[in-house]
Amino acid sequence: MKKVMILSGAGLSQESGIKTFRDNNGLWEEYDVMDICSAEGWRKNRLLVTKFFNERREELKNKEPNPAHYMLAKLEQNFPDRIWHLTQNVDDLLERAGCKNIIHMHGTLKDLRCENCGFVWDIGYRAQREDEVCPKCESDSVRHNVVMFGEPAPAYRNIYRAVNDSRLFVAIGTSGRVIDIVSLAKEFGNSILVNPKREEYITVFGSHERNIDEYFTEFIQKKAGEACEELYEKIVKFLE
Ligand code: APR
Repeated sequence: MKKVMILSGAGLSQESGIKTFRDNNGLWEEYDVMDICSAEGWRKNRLLVTKFFNERREELKNKEPNPAHYMLAKLEQNFPDRIWHLTQNVDDLLERAGCKNIIHMHGTLKDLRCENCGFVWDIGYRAQREDEVCPKCESDSVRHNVVMFGEPAPAYRNIYRAVNDSRLFVAIGTSGRVIDIVSLAKEFGNSILVNPKREEYITVFGSHERNIDEYFTEFIQKKAGEACEELYEKIVKFLE
């Protein structure tokens, strides 16, 4: 039974008004990445990092899914068990669009995690309280549930499962700077890239080979919201 592996990134939520990381006026222009998204930054200044995620979480309340999120939910509903959807995004817009089986590779913004017992619970869009304690073990060692650079990302084990189980690879709205989508595209005979920009492929050795889209069999150079109908058709044609 043919299956599809979808990997999405910040570009998928850009048309919902959520800033990407590396675009112009992206999040990384306002903050020093390593202060707020690295394990070292978390060790150095828990309050700064907690404030950053509180702001992101509260912003999320007023954002809405865009047509691309709804398209992905329709795809999942019409082709149950045929779609592996791994997202690098921590927002809940895919869930709010109706998706049920999203694999969050970098955690989830609406949840907190207990550093003592590992329990994860949903706090909605509110800020983490100063006196927040784990509902399970009552420890006060509580944190955001987002994976930081330099921390383990256990969900990554799903990449290999999805690659082995799928015959089409679709990358939507990701620069490929963290998860190497070129290496993934090379594993597939069929691959589709959706991105309004031609991103350079910078190998781990730092050399510039070609652009990322040159490693995909199809490249839809559009925003996710503009490409979603065309992309839906292509995926359905592949699955049928
Ligand atoms: N539709 C599709 N793609 C878009 C859109 C859009 N409307 N707007 C921007 N893009 C593309 C940009 O061209 C860029 O290639 O989305 C990509 C966003 O890239 P990044 O900002 O690097 O985001 P992402 O690839 O998700 O980053 C991966 O890095 O910072 C860490 O953990 C964080 O999950 C994140 C990871």
